[in-house]
Amino acid sequence: MSDPIIVCRCEDVTLQEVREWISRGYTSLEDLRRILRLGMGPCQGRTCIPIVQRELARMTGKSIDEIGSPTGRPPAVGVELGAFTSD
Ligand code: FES
Repeated sequence: MSDPIIVCRCEDVTLQEVREWISRGYTSLEDLRRILRLGMGPCQGRTCIPIVQRELARMTGKSIDEIGSPTGRPPAVGVELGAFTSD
């Protein structure tokens, strides 16, 4: 048995796991992100997202453009309650 190939170092996801979920029919980048937490680690997907995009393209026959990129979300920031009241 060969060593696992780590795709996402932040969330400890292997290439085999990615391939299994794609084979189960999860063929969108957003599906894989939600299931495997890809791109949700400290690097925010700089390493793993391009790898997963290429694997999705290879397994589905789609282009990278068709696969798309993750939807960016701003970081949540706490706000003091006083910001919602008028003086
Ligand atoms: S390698 Fe996947 S989020 Fe950092």
